[in-house]
Amino acid sequence: MKITKAVFPAAGFGTRFLPATKAIPKEMLPVVDKPLIQYCVEEAKASGIEEIIIITGRGKNAIEDHFDTSFELESILKEKDKKEILRVVNKVSGLARYVYTRQKKNLGLGHAILCARDIVGKEPFAVFLGDDMIDSKVPVMKQMAGVFKRYPSSILAVERVPKNETHLYGVIKGKEVAPGIYRVVDLVEKPMKNPPSNLAIIGRYILTPGIFRAIEKTAPGRGGEIQLTDALRILLRTEEVYACEFEGDRYDAGSKLGFIKANVSMGLKRPDIREGLKRFIKGLGV
Ligand code: G1P
Repeated sequence: MKITKAVFPAAGFGTRFLPATKAIPKEMLPVVDKPLIQYCVEEAKASGIEEIIIITGRGKNAIEDHFDTSFELESILKEKDKKEILRVVNKVSGLARYVYTRQKKNLGLGHAILCARDIVGKEPFAVFLGDDMIDSKVPVMKQMAGVFKRYPSSILAVERVPKNETHLYGVIKGKEVAPGIYRVVDLVEKPMKNPPSNLAIIGRYILTPGIFRAIEKTAPGRGGEIQLTDALRILLRTEEVYACEFEGDRYDAGSKLGFIKANVSMGLKRPDIREGLKRFIKGLGV
């Protein structure tokens, strides 16, 4: 079965980037010259996703405008014969079919996913958390779709993190069934002590529709929020869940340091600014 729908939770306040995010959604902060969320949408498209379901909230209109066509901008670019920029601008709206729904209250990641229930229907679907930017040869969701073929069940992307960082993530306890692939035995959201391993959940998931009933049964957990990790724990009672390590460099673009790192390393990949940026970094002499 092919995964064709992807849910993008984007209703958060972006408090870690205030005041920049007072009037701009954090998903729209640029890494080099593209908003963060566009990197994930491009990854989704390159992984075979056809429909992007964005869970928005108040103050997030810029996301809808970004993925829409902009008649005024396009006609000005045409008039001025700016073909290359026109191509770049047109590409954005043509990447996928976009559907929007609102999460009326910020009750947590699990609750955000539940908001997509009627749009997703009864098929397995992907979830992208835009804070995790991943630069890889094969798009991570495509890597996961390959695992899904072998293990048709919910699949979580995981990465080994230093032990002193496990409290920042959902952490799994898994039994390795193939190199880098684990059958999940248990999972905990942001464990303060005794993490079950150092395999942290990264913001890419394939979920079966069974997750919706599990979320409904999930009580508020860490931070008083309905957590996806807790819902997956309930799902584990009735379905197998797998996790896989992936090939790629991940940036936690939801943190200031990670965001700057993402900008520097994506900048170094752009032929138009690479040399200048390299010289600047060398010149810093730090
Ligand atoms: C969320 C999830 C967490 C996961 C993380 C990955 O946390 O709740 O399980 O490890 O994303 O980025 P957040 O970072 O949104 O607090």
